[in-house]
Order: sequence, then structure tokens, then C-alpha cells
Amino acid sequence: MRRAKITIIGAGNVGATCAHWAASKELGDIVLVDIVEGLPQGKSLDLFEASPIEGFDAGIIGTNGYDETADSDVVIITSGIARKPGMTRDQLLETNVKIVSDVTRKAAEKSPDAVLIVVSNPLDAMVYTACKVSGFPTQRVVGQAGVLDVARYRSFIAMEVGCSIEDVSALLMGGHGDDMVPLPRYTTICGIPVSQFIPAGRLSEIVTRARNGGAEIVGLLKTGSAYYAPASATIAMAESIIRDKRRILPCAAYCDEEYGVGGYFVGVPCVLGRGGVEKVIEVDLEGAERDMFSASVSHVKELCKAVDGFLG
Ligand code: NAI
Ligand code: 2OP
Repeated sequence: MRRAKITIIGAGNVGATCAHWAASKELGDIVLVDIVEGLPQGKSLDLFEASPIEGFDAGIIGTNGYDETADSDVVIITSGIARKPGMTRDQLLETNVKIVSDVTRKAAEKSPDAVLIVVSNPLDAMVYTACKVSGFPTQRVVGQAGVLDVARYRSFIAMEVGCSIEDVSALLMGGHGDDMVPLPRYTTICGIPVSQFIPAGRLSEIVTRARNGGAEIVGLLKTGSAYYAPASATIAMAESIIRDKRRILPCAAYCDEEYGVGGYFVGVPCVLGRGGVEKVIEVDLEGAERDMFSASVSHVKELCKAVDGFLG
């Protein structure tokens, strides 16, 4: 059986860490691409040299071109600039729309049947960019944000309650980070509503911490943004696609009729399988939840208008 092939564009913090997780899970052969000469070659060789020690079996190569990426099953886009302290994700748009459109065009030409997973920020607008530029069917373009935001939220809940992270189950929707829509009604610990463990006021502080989770790490690192959890989240999505696991994960997926979004990528729970986004799950939202979701969608639409302006 042919091994899966995964291209990761951007060999920086998130891209290289994605390669690390993907190799250790033996998801397939990996091609790491970056614009900086030597960087993807050096990181991929270094990672490959760890394989005899760790015992994973994966081809890993680095390149500054796209020929080696041909016929990839999954293309992960992490290229672009990251936030510095005090910056919002939206301030990355002008630079990253150019980078993401350039790399998408080149990768899509070589791998016309791939599923694209976009990570670069501002996430919801960059998924829209990749979809427009690639011309791929919308179900084969998806963005990573929700898996990370939920992971942060689950981590903070487990820290608060002092229980295993494994027993915390949660869902968030909407845009990445600042724009996310918390859904405490759908948060449980071992099936028990979270309200039986954490009072509403305290839970709201935890939601705020998760919302600002990216900025918290930027503030601590000072020279870049988070990458372990973002890469882990991205590879969970890649694994569900490559192994056709059909996991239900919160992702930036194309919604038209769904939730009445009208043709944009927003954070919603969806089934991820070999074909990409195989189904968007429509969750019942109540008054305030629906209002927050609409505000989040409006923000995504504004950013996408700006993308349209740049792409012409
Ligand atoms: P980084 O600066 O460590 O790596 C970015 C890499 O992209 C660099 O190696 C750079 O040389 C490369 N690059 C730039 N232009 C390129 C081009 N035209 N072709 C190929 N490679 C190119 O940044 P990091 O931390 O890896 O973050 C990458 C992006 O992911 C940022 O936009 C960041 O905001 C975003 N991000 C998104 C998350 C999410 O949850 N959606 C989480 C974490 C980061
Ligand atoms: C994060 O949330 C920077 O979007 C990235 O960490």
C-alpha cells in the first residue's frame, strides 16, 4: 500500500513541530518546504536522524521548491509571520495573504487532489484565501483553530478541577481565539455538566483565559507565538484525514446554508475523513450563543473583504 504523503509549508516553529508529531505518529512521508535556504533541509535531516533512536519509520525531506511535494495527500500551510507582543492576529493579514496565496498556488498545482489544512493567521481569513486561490472544492480546504482553542480550554478546566485532562470534554465555535464562542452547556467532566464543578463566574474567567491563550504564550515567549499545542492540533486533523478516522473536531470549515453563514469558513464541529470536511455538524445554539456566533461570523466576513481587496 502506498504511504500517505504530507507536505508542510513553513519550516518554522509550527511547521517543524508538525513534522515532528507527524513523523512520530508515522502518518506518512513528509516534505518540509520553506523559503529560507537550508532551513527545511537542515530540520528534516535532523528529524530523520532521530528516527533510528525513536523508532519511527517516515521519509522526511526538506526543500525550497515544490517538485518534491507532488501528489501529496495533505498539505499543511504554516508559512507566514507570527505575532509579536501587543499585536493582534488581524495585523498579520496584509503580509500573510501574500505568502499564503503564493504558497497555495504552487502547492495546489503539484497536488491537485490534496486536502489543505491552513494554520497561518489570521486563520479564518487565510483559509478563505487558500480556498479562493487553489480553486479546490470547499470540503478539501479546512483551517486549524478550534482544536487548539478547545485544548486550551480543556487544559485550564482540568487545572482548575484537579482532574485528568482525559475526562474533560468540550466544544467551542466561531473564530480563532478572541472571537471564539464558549459553550459551557456542552462542557462536561466524565459526562457531568461542568457547572457542578466550577461556578459560572470562575468558568467565565477560564473562558477568557482560553480566548487569550495565544496572547498569553506570545507574552511569555516575547519572540514568537505558540507552537507545540498548535502543531499537535494540526496533526490531529491530518491524522483524522489520512487514516479516515472521521473524528468530529472543531475546525474552520466552509458553511453556506449551515448556521446561515452564507459562504465563509468559520469554526464549527465537523467530521474529518479522507475527503476532508465530510460533514458540518449543526449544534443547537441558544440566544447569547447565537449572538456571539453571529458577531464572530461578521468579523470573519470583514477580514475576508480585506482579503478580496488584496487578491483583486
Ligand atoms: P515562524 O516564523 O516560526 O515560521 C514561519 C515560517 O514560514 C518561517 O520559517 C518562514 O521562513 C516561512 N515562510 C515565510 N514565507 C514563506 C514562503 N513564501 N514560502 C515558504 N515559507 C515561508 O512562525 P510560526 O510560529 O511557525 O507560525 C506560523 C504561522 O502560523 C503564523 O502566521 C502564526 O500566527 C500562525 N499560527 C496559527 C495558529 C493557529 O492556531 N491557527 C497557532 C500558531 C501559529
Ligand atoms: C495561537 O493562538 C498564535 O494563533 C496562535 O497561539
